[in-house]
Amino acid sequence: MPPAVTIVEVGPRDGFQLVGRVIPTATKLRVIRSLYDAGVRDMEVTSFVSPKAVPQFADADDVAREALRLPGLRASALVPNLRGLERALAAGIRAVTVVIGATDAFNTANVRMTVSRSLDQLAAIVEAARAVSGASIEAGIAVAFGCPYSGSVPLAAVEAIVERAVALGITSVSLGDTIGVATPTQVADAVTRLTRVYPGVHLALHLHDTRGMGLANVLAGMDAGVTVFDAAIGGLGGCPFAPGATGNIATDDTNHMLRGMGVETGIDQDGLLATGRLVAETVTPDLPSHALRVYLSRTPSAS
Ligand code: COA
Ligand code: ZN
Repeated sequence: MPPAVTIVEVGPRDGFQLVGRVIPTATKLRVIRSLYDAGVRDMEVTSFVSPKAVPQFADADDVAREALRLPGLRASALVPNLRGLERALAAGIRAVTVVIGATDAFNTANVRMTVSRSLDQLAAIVEAARAVSGASIEAGIAVAFGCPYSGSVPLAAVEAIVERAVALGITSVSLGDTIGVATPTQVADAVTRLTRVYPGVHLALHLHDTRGMGLANVLAGMDAGVTVFDAAIGGLGGCPFAPGATGNIATDDTNHMLRGMGVETGIDQDGLLATGRLVAETVTPDLPSHALRVYLSRTPSAS
């Protein structure tokens, strides 16, 4: 086991994007603040996508600006294209994840581009970010383990994207199990292979718990050397352009497991559970997290 791992909180991005109604900006900021108070220091705070595609993030600029006021928080954002990068940079964001689906079918549904066109956008984004001091670009590969439209995804398709990203000078790549179909052996095989072929790349895992494989996949990934995992408070999450997608692995379940196994995360479990209650009361009560369910059933609300 590694002595420590980084949990990247993606609830304010992946989590909020599947909430049906538009959440008030002030509520989003309360949740972000509460996560920060629990010790979260790495957070995807919003998404600079088209507000026509995802109305939830019409307030991305405001959310990013406010989140960036929290001292020591690495506030990142998702972008689909060059326009998203420009908006993120203008808001002060310096850590950007560019989402690219591993299949043409998903990528076209998600960002209306073939994989090849998204890779061209990635090149333009890397070029534009180079002019801005401190800007870093991560490639986030969606449907890396299975696609809602094309079915199984060969590792070669993922590798081709990593290959291009590496050629552009990118050193951080996140593998996304967008629809939660991966198994532990699949995760271990992908991480082992990519680590061997691209030893300079830092791999992160973005896992969904749709079929209950989430924490098993965390263990498999950790065993293969991964130390960065995305998770969403309460198990919020899902992609509006991937039919049937459900929540990310829950930050509170993941933190419970890792801390209990002696792996440091820097995040306080009681603080996370308090955030989970805040999300249940102000965003949605529909939270699949196990740890939170136990907590809410045992600890009556103060309000
Ligand atoms: N932020 C804000 N507006 C944007 C934008 C961005 N990143 N990218 C494009 N737009 C605007 C354009 O300015 C244009 O506006 P107009 O109609 O007022 O002229 C409009 O959106 C269409 O631009 P176009 O480049 O033709 O985009 P598109 O309609 O082909 O959509 C995306 C492409 C990528 C912008 C859109 O599909 C998207 O935002 N997808 C995000 C999906 C997502 O969030 N998925 C979940 C996360 S994995
Ligand atoms: Zn996701």
